[in-house]
Amino acid sequence: RLKLGVLVSGRGSNLQALIDACRDPAFPAEIAVVISNRADAQAIARAEAAGIATAVIPHRQFASRADFDAAVDARLRQAEVALVCLAGFMRLLTTGFVAAWFDRMINIHPSLLPSFKGLHPQQQAIDAGVRLSGCTVHYVRDEMDAGPIIVQAMVPVLPDDDESRLADRILTAEHAAYPLAVRLIADGRVTVSGERTLVSGGGWPAAPVL
Ligand code: GAR
Repeated sequence: RLKLGVLVSGRGSNLQALIDACRDPAFPAEIAVVISNRADAQAIARAEAAGIATAVIPHRQFASRADFDAAVDARLRQAEVALVCLAGFMRLLTTGFVAAWFDRMINIHPSLLPSFKGLHPQQQAIDAGVRLSGCTVHYVRDEMDAGPIIVQAMVPVLPDDDESRLADRILTAEHAAYPLAVRLIADGRVTVSGERTLVSGGGWPAAPVL
């Protein structure tokens, strides 16, 4: 099974979706370590409850971003991680770290990229008046919320949505999309080709449309 290292900062509901997927012995990946930059992240409690190794690496204890990233890198290598999954990890990573894990690190973002990068993408979608939004799982590149797309899932934006209602609807899609992306990669079906990915073996990875 492909060994995952999951980087988290908060609630950890996407981590939970991955934990639940990995419980199935037929799922082709397992979580080797969960790393948080915050000791109080609910995600850490979720990992502990599931009996998964955890590491808290508080970013404030490091003189520079590079030093923090080096500590994260060392813990990932110690756990023999093959794929890094950012799951609500709210720190920007250095160019060196992104290069070290090039095509071996993925992120989930709550919009249909390339629309609505950065903070509050759900509010950005409401403000733009779009009728559809969703989530994107993509390989990580230096530019924030950019990189070859692996899976997208869409949800409607409804007339009475506020940021939190839309975020909840997108989150349900995220919990299907993230395990799907990991499964496709672990099955060796995803190839990066320039700015996009190719997926072999049939089935187009647009996850449940809710
Ligand atoms: C998720 O909606 C995720 O897509 C988003 O943070 C939330 C984390 O929730 N990530 C980003 O906005 C990254 N740019 P979770 O901790 O419950 O998985």
